[in-house]
Order: sequence, then C-alpha cells, then structure tokens
Amino acid sequence: MQRKILVTSALPYANGSIHLGHMVEYIQTDIWVRFQKMRGHECHYVCADDAHGTPIMLRAQNEGISPEQLISDVSKEHQADFADFAIDFDNYHSTHSDENRALASQIYLANRDAGHIEARTISQAYDPEKEMFLPDRFIRGECPKCGAADQYGDNCEACGATYEPTELKNPVSAVSGATPITKESEHYFFKLGDFEKTLQEWTHSDHLQPEVTRKLGEWFDSGLQDWDISRDAPYFGFEIPDTDNKFFYVWMDAPIGYLASFKNYCEREGIDFNEFMKPDSDTEMVHFIGKDIIYFHALFWPAMLEGAGFRQPDNIYAHGFLTVDGKKMSKSRGTFIKARTYLDHLNPEYLRYYFAAKLGNGIDDIDLSLEDFQTRINADLVGKVVNIASRCAGFISKRFDGKLTDTLTEPGLFTDFSNQAEAIAKRYEAREFGQAMREIMALADRANVYIDEMKPWVLAKEEGKEDEVQAICSMGINLFRVLIAYLKPVLPRTAEQAEAFLNIEPLQWSDIATPLLGHQINKFKPLMTRIEQDRLDAIVSDSKEAMAAEQKPKAKTEQAKGIDPIADEIQFDDFAKIDLRIAKIVNAEHVEGADKLLKLTLDIGLDEKQVFAGIKSAYAPEDLVGKLTVMVANLAPRKMRFGLSEGMVLAAGPGGKDLFILSPDDGAQPGMRVK
Ligand code: MSP
Ligand code: ZN
Repeated sequence: MQRKILVTSALPYANGSIHLGHMVEYIQTDIWVRFQKMRGHECHYVCADDAHGTPIMLRAQNEGISPEQLISDVSKEHQADFADFAIDFDNYHSTHSDENRALASQIYLANRDAGHIEARTISQAYDPEKEMFLPDRFIRGECPKCGAADQYGDNCEACGATYEPTELKNPVSAVSGATPITKESEHYFFKLGDFEKTLQEWTHSDHLQPEVTRKLGEWFDSGLQDWDISRDAPYFGFEIPDTDNKFFYVWMDAPIGYLASFKNYCEREGIDFNEFMKPDSDTEMVHFIGKDIIYFHALFWPAMLEGAGFRQPDNIYAHGFLTVDGKKMSKSRGTFIKARTYLDHLNPEYLRYYFAAKLGNGIDDIDLSLEDFQTRINADLVGKVVNIASRCAGFISKRFDGKLTDTLTEPGLFTDFSNQAEAIAKRYEAREFGQAMREIMALADRANVYIDEMKPWVLAKEEGKEDEVQAICSMGINLFRVLIAYLKPVLPRTAEQAEAFLNIEPLQWSDIATPLLGHQINKFKPLMTRIEQDRLDAIVSDSKEAMAAEQKPKAKTEQAKGIDPIADEIQFDDFAKIDLRIAKIVNAEHVEGADKLLKLTLDIGLDEKQVFAGIKSAYAPEDLVGKLTVMVANLAPRKMRFGLSEGMVLAAGPGGKDLFILSPDDGAQPGMRVK
C-alpha cells in the first residue's frame, strides 16, 4: 500500500551557519525520505529557517541591517549548504511567512477559545538603557555559587550550577552593559497541564523511542508546567492577536513552521493540505529532531495541535549529538566544522556514508573520528564498492562493445544479493542505517571475493576464454548495480553517476530483483577517489581560522555604540614591522579633482615624504602646516591617481569633521620613533 508521509527536520535558527552537527539530522532525515521515495511512497520532506527571536533581532541590529535582510541572507546560505550536501527538501520556507502567521494565529486562537491560555503578570529582568526585557542568555554576572565572572543568567560554565538570573551577583545586560532592573509585565501561558492525560497516553503508544518515553516520564513526575508563550516588544516575531505589543515566543511558532512550509508547498503543487491535517487522517506526519529539543516536540507540540483540533504527529525520531574525535565540537581545536568548510574540501557523500554507518535508531551521541572517517571511506566506498565496477567495466567496454551477457552465469549469487532487499529495507525503515551499511558492505565483500576468484584479468590473456570473461564481468556489474541500489538513499549522486554508466533509468527498490541482461552499458568513469590526509588537515585549519575571525566582532558592546569592531588579531612580529615616526607637516595643498584628499609634505627628520591623506573633511590645508602627526614611514609607496603616496598619516576619530591629529607640543621632534 502506498503511504502518504509528511517528513520534517528541525528548523535551523536563522542566526548562524550550518555545521556538521546539524548535518547529522538533515542527512539522517534525507536518507530516510529518499528511501521512502525509492519504495514508491508519496513522501514530502519540508523544512524552513527558524527566523524569530531575540538573538536574530540583536544580530541584525549589530550588523546594521533589518531582521528581514538578515534572515533572507542566512536562508540563501543555508539552502546552498543543504543543496550541496544533496539534502533534497521538497520545500524550504521560513517561519517569518504569511502561512506561518496565519497558522500560528489559528492555533493560538483555537487554544485560547478552548480555555488553554491564561494571562499572568510576571517580573523579569529589564535593560533600562536598551529598554527591553532580557532573556536569561543576555544577562551576565558572577556565579552565585562559585563566584566565577561573566557567567550566563541561567547556568555557570565553571561549576555547572543552575540558578535564576536574579541570583547572579553584579549582573549586567549583555546587550548594553547596563545593570538590569526588575520589571513587571503581563504574559500569556499555555496550560500544558490541561493535556496531561492525553499526553501520558500519546507518549506511551509507540510514537516515540523507548528512551525518549522514559525521559519524558521524569517531566511528568515533576509536574507539567504552564508554558510562557509571549514576549514583550521589542521582539522579532508575530504579534499575538488581540494583544497590545505582545509577541509569540519563537518556540511557539517554530513547530507551526513545519505546517506553514508544507502549506506553502501544497498550494504550489496542488496537494490537499487538509487531508494531511485532519485528526483522523490516513497520512503520516514524522518529525526528525535532536535530543535537545524533545520537550518542545513531544509535549508542547502534540498538546497545541490537540487544543487546535489538528492531527497528532505519528512519530518523533530523536537523534544524539555529534562529537568530533570523541569530544564536543571545539572552535579552538578546529573541530567546529561548518558545512561549507567541509564542502570546500571533500565530497559530501563521504560524510553522508559515514553518518549512515554510525547512525542507529537511538539517541546516543555519534562520533566523527577523522582518522576512522578516512579509513572507512577509503576501505568501504573506494576499496569495496566502486572497485567492483572499475574491475569489470573496462573489459566489457573494450572487448564486448559495452554489452552484458544475455544470462547470468551465477544466478544463485545474484539472488543472494537481491534477496536481501526486504531485510535491508526494514533496516532503513527502522533507521538502523549502521546495520544496513554493514549488511551492504558484507555483500560488497562477497562480490569482490567472486571477482578475485574468477580472475577475469588472467582469463583475458588466455585463448578462447572470451565468453567467460564477459560472463564474469557481467555478473560483477550486476552485483554492483544491486549494491548501488541499496546505497542510493545514502549516495544519491554516486548512484546517479552509476545509473548513467549503467545506462538505466533511476533505480527504484522494485528494480533490484531484475538483473540487467543483454544490455548495453556506457564507458566507466571513476566514481570516487580516496580521502588524502591533507584534505582533513585543511578542514581543521580552515575551521580554526574561520572561528578566530568570527569571534572578534561578536559580544562587543562597543559595536552597538557605533564604534568599529577591533580588526583581526595580528602577531607581535607584524606590529614590529611598522615604523611609526613623528612627522612635521611642512606643506599641505588641495588636490585637483579629489574631494577627500590633501597632499601633504612631511618632514621626518631624515627625509621628506609626500603623502595623500583623506582628511580634507576635517582640516583646511592652512590649518595643517606646522602641525605634527604620526606617520607610517615604511609603508611601500603606492601610485595613486594623483601621484605617488609614500606613507600614511595617522589620525583618530569617527570621521567627517571629527578627525584629530597631533598639535605641536614641546619635545616632539620630526623623525622620532613612536613607541
Ligand atoms: N530552531 C530550533 C528548532 C526548531 S524546530 C521547530 C533549533 N535550531 S538549531 O539550529 O539549534 O538546531 C537544529 C537541529 O540541529 C536540532 O534538531 C538540533 O538538535 C540539531 N543539532 C544542532 N547541533 C547538533 C549537534 N552538534 N549534533 C547533532 N545535532 C545537532 O534547535
Ligand atoms: Zn559557578
């Protein structure tokens, strides 16, 4: 029976780049979806950027752009990363969309009208300078337990203590540096407890992994808390209907973004959205998520849907977190690897295969060991799978005009391969990808053993063995084809190249049972190459660099106050190369045709230098003559449109009329070294 399945991956936040940790999820989901499609099911895979919330609002402010601009830039970047990793979304949307605004209102209003929303006044930390309420992450101070400085408002990274932001000592707002005050405000709460009974049932009926159900048990035991779904302005999000300047908390409209993206897609493709959404729907809805966001998906989400009269999810599949070389991804070790950095150096299908080989159906963390990664790709994909084709293809093209035999010489071996189709399908269905990969590689080993034993390259040199060579190589190609079909959900691009080489239509699961006989294949081109060590080294060193460059401008409150961020760090050696000298401005004149430049003649004691300086906005030439300035005396001369410039003068200030150079003062002499 053909199933109709709506599949989602969690919506990545629109304030940062996709990294390899994220990719665990998108690769896992994409493999599952591709598998379902290969089986002939109607499967729709949608995602979106999660575009709302305080961090996105503040980042846009820091960058001096609108939040809309930021989320549109980030969305492009995310989509390019996903496309290059062959993540084949049927639709990629945004939570900041018309569909989401409408659905969020609808779901909220239905819950409100059914009595599941309650208004209450709460006190919260408030930044009096920036005039905004502060989320816990934006308050910093000394840990109340151990006294460590500069800790977040909710937990201490030094001693691990958790606490209320009000307990922090000497708290400051991370936004403005001001001391937060406490202020009251009315908030809207979703009464999760109203759904306790149905949630108990739902979480115990095979919709979740057993370890997730156990984890939720702890939360049920400690009592389901009301959930604050509102935020005060300024906030980047949707205004809550019938309120004055209250906004939906980002996590309220984020999961609704799944439906919004799907709706957007349904309207474009003419699919019946309501068929998927009604409570007794025959369709399936499946969410893939990381284990950190179980609470939102397994409690709030089904409850909100129920309160609004929508269908429930059929499954929520959580996965563990990615570690690199056994440790949390680390910026300083260069193991915080962005998707793009990886893509700059390696074939995305290597990572897809590696994650597949490591993934099970549980929530254990998975480790990317760079050494193991290299070994496994080189051994499995290059050494085993691709090798089968490259050993057989040459003979078929050169000696037999690309023609495979009309019958199989070892039909039993072929059925041994194709008979695994249902077992391997079960593994994919159950997300036991690691187990599936092991079973497929065991078959690849058998195919290689067969070719090793038959030695077509020896027979090829003997008289009258033509038919045998063709039969063995046709067998090899047929085994290769089955393996490629099994691997296609994981290696879609390699499969596509293999299909071109085999001269066949895109492989479906149902094709596996039928061998290719009397069929003309195309010339073989190498499908994959080995991973060399220098590629991995380059990924690590690029990651270190990318992170070092990024860390600077961040958290700098100066930036918010309009001061340029500090430039990339330089080494002492770089600094020591700069020869700074006191220079006396002996002449200054206008430059014909230049609006900003003055031509200066500078006396640095040993020499006179001519410099074009962009300080016309602040000084008239006559004001400058006789003054002292500091110049970079050893800057390589640069040819400018107006003549040669032999150095730089240093001035301070924001620009315009406010640019300051030194005034003559006693003691300073032209040519003196500045230290
Ligand atoms: N925006 C929310 C999800 C809203 S869904 C309605 C969010 N975004 S996220 O960008 O932080 O994470 C997106 C997904 O990637 C989450 O499922 C998260 O668990 C997963 N991962 C983020 N870092 C990860 C690792 N290091 N390892 C594995 N998965 C990780 O959460
Ligand atoms: Zn502490």
